[in-house]
Amino acid sequence: MTIQTDQNQRRVIIFDTTLRDGEQSPGCSMNLEEKLRVAKMLETMGVDVIESGFPVASSGDFQAVNEVSKIIKDAVVCGLARSSNTDIDSAGEALKPAERKRIHTFISTSPLHMSVKLQMDPGDVHQAVIDSVNRARKYTDDVEWSAEDGTRTEHDFLCRCVESAIAAGATTVNIPDTVGYTVPDEYATLIRMIMDRVPNIDKACVSVHCHNDLGLAVANSLAAVSAGARQVECTINGIGERAGNASLEEIVMALRTRNDVMPYDNNINTRDITKASRIVSGVTGFAVQPNKAIVGANAFAHEAGIHQDGVLKDASTYEIMTPESVGLAKNKLVLGKHSGRHAFSEKLSELGYELGSNAKQDAFRRFKDLADLKKDVYDEDIIALVDDEVVMSANDRVKLLSLEIKCGTVHRPPRAHMKLDVDGAVKNCNSSGDGPVDAAFNGIKKLFPHAARLQLYQVHAVTEGTDAQAEVTVRLEENGKTVNGSGTDTDTMVASVKAYVHALNKLMVKREKTAPVAVSV
Ligand code: KIV
Ligand code: ZN
Repeated sequence: MTIQTDQNQRRVIIFDTTLRDGEQSPGCSMNLEEKLRVAKMLETMGVDVIESGFPVASSGDFQAVNEVSKIIKDAVVCGLARSSNTDIDSAGEALKPAERKRIHTFISTSPLHMSVKLQMDPGDVHQAVIDSVNRARKYTDDVEWSAEDGTRTEHDFLCRCVESAIAAGATTVNIPDTVGYTVPDEYATLIRMIMDRVPNIDKACVSVHCHNDLGLAVANSLAAVSAGARQVECTINGIGERAGNASLEEIVMALRTRNDVMPYDNNINTRDITKASRIVSGVTGFAVQPNKAIVGANAFAHEAGIHQDGVLKDASTYEIMTPESVGLAKNKLVLGKHSGRHAFSEKLSELGYELGSNAKQDAFRRFKDLADLKKDVYDEDIIALVDDEVVMSANDRVKLLSLEIKCGTVHRPPRAHMKLDVDGAVKNCNSSGDGPVDAAFNGIKKLFPHAARLQLYQVHAVTEGTDAQAEVTVRLEENGKTVNGSGTDTDTMVASVKAYVHALNKLMVKREKTAPVAVSV
């Protein structure tokens, strides 16, 4: 089933590629459970199309697209494919269980990409456009075709390829700014040129896909919408190749806040934005910069006295949108030590969690433990607590059982005593290091020898106050593969070990995957 749209309509299709282009950014990989969680969140928030992976790239990607296809009912599930039969067949196969499926096939059309990367003549590229769309149509009526490096493509050739793709059955034609090179006026002119010159353009939805190399991805996407594009490809938190993709939350909030000058609708429930941002940042380990528009920690903070005074008198003096409109209920005191099961369960639902009875019981037990350690428990604490549980999987090869660390001025060097469950066997050891974190990580290496290199160690306080939970991110690298792990606890050392162990488990899964063959998108 295809999504109905036409250029005269005001409805903009939101195509999310967090799980595909977003996941392509170095160090941003997600495991299957994490991808499913993100996919469910995207569906809940009203994303129209979820690009869930590149099935031919690896068995992990194939499985992710296949599993997302099984659970998503409201959104269209999309899989990416180059123009080869193998790619398209793999996407068609992975998408089989989807109720609404889309194959997104692409080929480079710029002179530079055709001659250097593809080493193909324009004539052969043009034929590949037709053949690939024809092949994809065997699996679904909903086919998207992309002109990779579209913004650096000669106009006549671009129009010819777009026309042929539509004639072959593409229902969406995407003009990516693959290298983040264009600027708003130029991009709008390009989209208008395509709308004016391609005779069958009314048979397809024009889509845009912008990268952020010059920080213009959102501005370019919005300019394209004003010029007639009716699908925007974007990612949560703007993650993606290099400087990232256009950020979903910025596009959606700009369309909503400036509906007076951009009168276009979309299906996103903006109140889910903050939650989606936190989930994506949690599973990828990519912290959101504090001054990031919409979802940064400071996006709604008013520091200057004059601003605070104004906001207290009337929020609209300095706020163009409300924190509530993006689902931000900052530091709301929720529950305490004496809160019962019912209140906890209500809070989980309010925060958008639907846990099975065992998971709920376990979360409640952990909430009680937390309330014993921490006087005030906020929404952010509950989110961190539930999310922390979700990152652990029953298939994890390594699990933290206990940790004791001696450090400070009297214990030099710092020493750790650690007990891990490794492949079902309990192992323990003593270790030391330059600091407590080093001592703990050395312990993990002793009990589970590995060659991975620590690339990033990052600590973030979930809320304010010295009793706040620490949220730690660890990035490990092995043979060019990077993974992020996260862990949360009121004890920073426990959170650190949880994060390292999480990353290690992800690395083990990644080792089993096959590497993509010369996949360049
Ligand atoms: O940036 C790009 O050109 C892409 C295509 C595959 C759409 O990601
Ligand atoms: Zn891209």
